[in-house]
Amino acid sequence: MTDKVTVVDHPLVQHKMTLLRQVGTTSREFRQLLREIGWFLGYEALKDLKLEEVPSETPMGKTKGKLLAGKKLALISILRAGDGLLAPLLDLVPSARVGQIGLMRNEETLMPEKYMMKVPRDLDKRVTVLLDPMLATAGSAIQAVQEALEAGAKDIRFICLVAAPEGIAAFTQAYPDVPVTVAAIDDHLNERGYIVPGLGDAGDRIFGTKRY
Ligand code: PRP
Ligand code: URA
Repeated sequence: MTDKVTVVDHPLVQHKMTLLRQVGTTSREFRQLLREIGWFLGYEALKDLKLEEVPSETPMGKTKGKLLAGKKLALISILRAGDGLLAPLLDLVPSARVGQIGLMRNEETLMPEKYMMKVPRDLDKRVTVLLDPMLATAGSAIQAVQEALEAGAKDIRFICLVAAPEGIAAFTQAYPDVPVTVAAIDDHLNERGYIVPGLGDAGDRIFGTKRY
């Protein structure tokens, strides 16, 4: 595996992942666990953000502090399930700009089909963070990076929750320079393109659109 893929295996993340994956976990619990794990993923994915020194004054006197340099980040949710990671990333970076790329995987071909896209301006001047809990075949992630590049993004990172080894291989082959931060790389993809053991359909579990 390339050094561009980081698996966040902190004990708290592994604990929360086990709870989140459980078939009996409710949508409410799933969203909360995804939010908590998302804080760890964001912490890792953004650890190289540039800072600039600024004058600062505490009640004790003048000093110097550091603030994030440059334009605000662009957080781009790959709909629908990406919205589950948007909340924790906005917790970390409340002033980020937000975009959406609507991609729906065709159940037959497993290819993503785009149905909407709205992203912040000046992506070329922003760190662009793509968010999607699932990297299965990687078709959606690869198309999302392509869309972001066409929209001008230059510094792109991808944050996901669970990946299949097949998806990691396809993604890193397509975009070897795009860092991926993930909580777990699972065993394999099944014949329907679902990650095993995975967690089922992330969108359905976040939004409660299907009962397990
Ligand atoms: C899921 C998931 C990814 C995609 C992963 O979305 O959120 O976007 O599948 O599969 P891939 O790596 O094989 O492309 P889905 O298309 O089911 O849409 P949803 O988020 O609206 O449920
Ligand atoms: N999309 C999901 O939501 N889950 C999978 O396992 C694969 C694709």
